[in-house]
Amino acid sequence: MFVKSVHGAAVLAGSFVAPRDLNINDVSSIRSVASTLAYGTMSYYTGNVTNTPETLAVFPAPVYWWESGACWGSMLDYQHYTGDTSYKDVITQALLSQVGPNFDYMVPRHQGDEGNDDQAFWSFTVLEAAERNLPQPDDSIPSWLTMGRTSGTRWWLVGTQQPVVANSVSNGGLFQLSARLARATGNQTYQDWAAKIWDWSESVGFIDKDFNVLDGADSRDDCQKVNPVSFSYSQGIYLYGAAVLYNHTLGDATWGDRTNKLLKATASYFGPFDNATGVMFEHACETVGRCNTDMLSFKAYLSRFMWATTQMMPSTLSQVQAVLNTSAAAAGRACSGGANGTLCGERWYVDGFDGNTGLGQQMSALEVIQGLLVQEATPPSRRARSSM
Ligand SMILES: *[C@@H]1O[C@H](CO)[C@@H](O)[C@H](O)[C@H]1NC(C)=O
Ligand SMILES: *[C@@H]1O[C@H](CO)[C@@H](O)[C@H](O)[C@H]1NC(C)=O
Ligand SMILES: *[C@@H]1O[C@H](CO)[C@@H](O)[C@H](O)[C@H]1NC(C)=O
Ligand SMILES: *[C@@H]1O[C@H](CO)[C@@H](O)[C@H](O)[C@H]1NC(C)=O
Ligand SMILES: *[C@@H]1O[C@H](CO)[C@@H](O)[C@H](O)[C@H]1NC(C)=O
Ligand SMILES: *[C@@H]1O[C@H](CO)[C@@H](O)[C@H](O)[C@H]1NC(C)=O
Repeated sequence: MFVKSVHGAAVLAGSFVAPRDLNINDVSSIRSVASTLAYGTMSYYTGNVTNTPETLAVFPAPVYWWESGACWGSMLDYQHYTGDTSYKDVITQALLSQVGPNFDYMVPRHQGDEGNDDQAFWSFTVLEAAERNLPQPDDSIPSWLTMGRTSGTRWWLVGTQQPVVANSVSNGGLFQLSARLARATGNQTYQDWAAKIWDWSESVGFIDKDFNVLDGADSRDDCQKVNPVSFSYSQGIYLYGAAVLYNHTLGDATWGDRTNKLLKATASYFGPFDNATGVMFEHACETVGRCNTDMLSFKAYLSRFMWATTQMMPSTLSQVQAVLNTSAAAAGRACSGGANGTLCGERWYVDGFDGNTGLGQQMSALEVIQGLLVQEATPPSRRARSSM
């Protein structure tokens, strides 16, 4: 059910607005641009044209399996924030194709790609399907929420029994997933897991004293050597996990403080020059042209999780808007390439299209722009505390 053209997509959203002309103060402008960028994102997907188990849900190389999972999460957000259900069937089909024999999103075909950090984004996406009330397609398989729980539980067992190589993303992923499961189910076990992973992450130095999330450590060295490189998505993953726990605990001061400090530390991902301030960039690689395919998508997740944080902890809103408003406008201007002037580039701070295109670039712009609508959207669904 792909809409047939950029203009077709725009019809659903009202009149067409070029991304470079995005008006962040006008909801219909935001919706139109988001619709164009979602269409552009799905243009990279050919998996259901051939419609075989090998291609379903996955985007063509060099995109890895994890980023495909992440992209379906971007599309779920798109549907939720804009109310445009054009992609509902293709999203559902993709999610169902990867459940795996045990309904835990371990897919034998992609086993080589299933590090815990790879699986994190599929787990986020299936849980998002639950939180966003994506209709359950079929009674013969477990619910989205049950599959999110199964995948989280499997991951907890594997992660705590044989933590060989650990990085902050796999731990942060389990931290955030546990936090969201705690809120979605009300089961205390998940809250306990989240607290444990937080403590461990701090003790090994993944989170430094200024709340910068560093990339990783290798537990074979007793986690003595933390890799000091840092990426935007890790910061975003811990940030949103902390915010969810703040919300779930009805405003616990410790989680509130951690959320605020993690948010403050996102500042290192904005800049980057005097001529372009408040513009998100991937500080480890972007200004030197060294981002790989994975890294090119990281801004999507920092954007997603910063916007989502404003729902879980409303007091963060103005601080988040202060940098994401400018970033969204800059991202719109970066999406002015291609024949239709709608293709996204990588660097938002150049004030235009930089010619460096790809799925990650398209998703990043989509997430930072559609998130402008978060205040209007229903918050993730939850169960009352203490049930389940
Ligand atoms: C540009 O728009 C036309 C007509 O809507 C569409 O058929 C074509 O695929 C688009 N091209 C690109 C590069 O987006
Ligand atoms: C892609 O998937 C959607 C949803 O299942 C379907 O409606 C559409 O026809 C599919 N497109 C192709 C080319 O198979
Ligand atoms: C939790 O999130 C809901 C939904 O956004 C919000 O209304 C509520 O104020 C939040 N709770 C706290 C303690 O901030
Ligand atoms: C950000 O943009 C929104 C509209 O999308 C506006 O309501 C808000 O005041 C802006 N905030 C800042 C800090 O610029
Ligand atoms: C700002 O300066 C940087 C570095 O010199 C440059 O790459 C970029 O294009 C400039 N941005 C704008 C908006 O002029
Ligand atoms: C809470 O979650 C844990 C871990 O998945 C599970 O073992 C336990 O049975 C759950 N408790 C209830 C009351 O559902």
